[in-house]
Amino acid sequence: MAAATLVVVACLSACSESAAPQDSFGDSEEIRTVTPTWISDLRIVGDSSDDESCSWSASYPAVPGADALTATLRSAVETRLPVFGRSENRGCSGETANLDVDIDFEFLAAAGDVIGVQLTTFDYSGAGDGISSASYWFDGRTRQSVPSTALIAEDATDRLVTAFAKALSGKAGVQGDGLKDALGSEFRAGKLNDLSFTTGGALVADLDRGTAAVPPAGRVRAVIPAAEATALLSDLGRRAQEQAVRPTNRLTIGDTPAPPPPPAPTSPVTPPPAAEVNCQEVKCVALTFDDGPGPFTAQLLDTLAQHDARATFFVVGQNATYNAALVRRVAEAGHEIGNHSWSHPDLTKQTEEQIREQLSRTEQAVKTATGHAPTLVRPPYGAMNDKVRANAGKPLVLWSVDTEDWKFHDSAKVAQTVISTVKPGDIVLIHDIHQTSVAAVPAILNALKERDYHFVTTSQLFGTTPLAAGTTYSSNPAAADRS
Ligand code: NI
Repeated sequence: MAAATLVVVACLSACSESAAPQDSFGDSEEIRTVTPTWISDLRIVGDSSDDESCSWSASYPAVPGADALTATLRSAVETRLPVFGRSENRGCSGETANLDVDIDFEFLAAAGDVIGVQLTTFDYSGAGDGISSASYWFDGRTRQSVPSTALIAEDATDRLVTAFAKALSGKAGVQGDGLKDALGSEFRAGKLNDLSFTTGGALVADLDRGTAAVPPAGRVRAVIPAAEATALLSDLGRRAQEQAVRPTNRLTIGDTPAPPPPPAPTSPVTPPPAAEVNCQEVKCVALTFDDGPGPFTAQLLDTLAQHDARATFFVVGQNATYNAALVRRVAEAGHEIGNHSWSHPDLTKQTEEQIREQLSRTEQAVKTATGHAPTLVRPPYGAMNDKVRANAGKPLVLWSVDTEDWKFHDSAKVAQTVISTVKPGDIVLIHDIHQTSVAAVPAILNALKERDYHFVTTSQLFGTTPLAAGTTYSSNPAAADRS
């Protein structure tokens, strides 16, 4: 993997989002990314399988008032991952067999009247490095969703190509003479489809493998210094550059800008005391809900409260970040919160640094919302190897009952799977991002309550048994079996 690739990948999740605005253009090559928790009602639209044999996951943000951008992002995701959001033919056969695709997003800007979102696709099912990225922009003045090239002034194309050719010359694998022609002829065709800015205002083009260099050189990054870049930018481009250098952390698109959400409470949640349940003496089951929180999580919390049931929520960090109040509510109700990574990639395909970043970023999101860091990790897809075990730093929790709810979207089937197969000590895998799954929960709770089950958190299921970091737990066989 070329050095340029490493920089790109590291920045996908690690770039600063809270650096103090700079007074003048600097030389940093760190891409500006932001986590706009200041936007009210920002939704993360996500969908995934949870099966290692056809692992796929994608998410994109839906910003209120930026419907055109949302539509563009949705279309981009569906083009790369046709199974996304479908209700049928979702899992592990035909075109979805052997899928191994994750699509991640980062905000490049989300303030003033400019929104920028970068989508990065990791497709491990084919040849090459499998990484491709693109950035999409929204101009709040025109309410238009536009491609990266809209950041560039109409009459600046030739100068831009020259500047990029200069920035790329001498990089490994870049064939100098041909580059200018290649970029020139491909410019409007979208090869320069991932433009962004550094925190110092420099213009960055991230070029997919084979675009500007010989394929073995991998991805290539070209950077045009800030002062030179400014002269090439359109009006939108200059506003985007300004937000990269001095983010205002307030979005002002729309006729009546939404007020920012109220500041989150900062005191740590004090959960209600757990009922005295000894799972060696009574029948216990741990219901676990993955991939949220999402649009149906609040409804699920109501259902669980009505049945006095505790559960475990393995949250995805980006969802936790933008639904912090909901995460707090989960904790206040006495449920356990576990770490399910930041963006749901197959961790076995990530570097050690990326694994730690996926987990620590989520840990921070949960801690911000509740005051407590999660103590359990569930790797997406249950995909694990020694590298994941070594870098998790926490006990790893899988499951013993798989509802496969993500595949079928069928409430009756989800309920029936649990009711007919569960035994004391089981850990049940359900996903609260699917309406059909949440709708199945009342039937599960009613049927198992009649059979004297207690609904406990994962930690309660293991009682006083200490769980060890790096060790995998799929059920508690020591739990009482009185069935
Ligand atoms: Ni999952």
